[in-house]
Amino acid sequence: MQNKIPVFDIKIGDLEKKYIKDCLDSSSIGQGSYVEDFEKQFSQFVNCKFGVTTTSGTTALHLALKTLDIGDGDEVLLSSSTNMACAFSIAHCNAKPVPIDIHKNTWQMNTDLIEKKITNKTKAIMVVHLFGQAVDMDPVIELAKKYNLKILEDCAESHGVEYKGKKVGSIGDVGAFSFYPNKTITCGEGGMITTNSEKLAEKARDLKNLCYGKNNKFMHTGIGFQFRMSNVSAAMGLGQLSQINEIFEKKKKIDERYKKNLAGIKGLNIPEISKHTNKYIMWVFNLYLDDKFGITRDELAIKLKELNIETREAFVPVNMQKVLQKKYDLKEKDCPNANYIMDNGFYIPCGNTITEDEIDYVSEKIIEIGKK
Ligand SMILES: Cc1ncc(COP(=O)(O)O)c(C=O)c1O
Repeated sequence: MQNKIPVFDIKIGDLEKKYIKDCLDSSSIGQGSYVEDFEKQFSQFVNCKFGVTTTSGTTALHLALKTLDIGDGDEVLLSSSTNMACAFSIAHCNAKPVPIDIHKNTWQMNTDLIEKKITNKTKAIMVVHLFGQAVDMDPVIELAKKYNLKILEDCAESHGVEYKGKKVGSIGDVGAFSFYPNKTITCGEGGMITTNSEKLAEKARDLKNLCYGKNNKFMHTGIGFQFRMSNVSAAMGLGQLSQINEIFEKKKKIDERYKKNLAGIKGLNIPEISKHTNKYIMWVFNLYLDDKFGITRDELAIKLKELNIETREAFVPVNMQKVLQKKYDLKEKDCPNANYIMDNGFYIPCGNTITEDEIDYVSEKIIEIGKK
């Protein structure tokens, strides 16, 4: 029996171990210099002046929204197809998430649909650069100017990705990153916001650390959070950052091999890369089926599981979440493309330690099952 081929795994390098050991040996396990170094080096990598670490991608989004003053009754537009960290962080600000449908071929937010969803309560657009691609930012920037809206870029799945030569996370007012273990680089758990505004960076730094007072520490200047990343996590992140180009190379090889193996199979579709993503960095390898494949996505997943091949189904969109539908009057029919991808999309094993033989085995089995 084939050993289990998981959807993701990570490779931890010697530098991560060295830096973490350094934290342990020096007892600098809470706050310490790795936090500052990681913020500096990662924000430089994104071409931003400032980086503020957090405990996760979810808390990075929450902190970013609070930093942008999103609050009671505000509306925030976002891609319908995404991780619910996006919608929930908006809900936790007492604001309303307003889902925008995606393009069926690229799975990215369809920016042509944004303007008709703008109301006098709209305060921000949360752009989610999904699966290593970039959303088309020019129309977003234009609308933000026209209606005086803030732009928050969620780059959890798009470390290093470029839109027309600009790194995502440096284009809007604030970027938010996740370093969960399935992300391009990881801290174990962690996140960061990036910005070119000193004012926003200072505000975020304050908010993430309980808004401690400047003169009397315990006379707080605001109602803050405790979203501090530990020195140990930052040490891990810094070590991972040093091997980011090797990780990109590995991902490129996985992407190319799957694309070569799986091209032209009837009913099996590979999402297209949008033309404005001038640096694509595969996050996970996605596929979606249509009727010509012969069996459904769920039937295929069961058959692959029997062969010890793990798959993960696509996101259930914002407009389909029962916990959000009632509260925000969202409808199933709001986002038909996101719904189509929910039913037919999935990703296949593509972790950093997957071998060429495993990629070929997974591809072969998908093709074999489809032919039956
Ligand atoms: C698009 C997107 N945003 C936000 C998050 C949340 O990140 P975290 O799991 O680090 O909280 C994820 C996580 O998977 C994500 O994919």
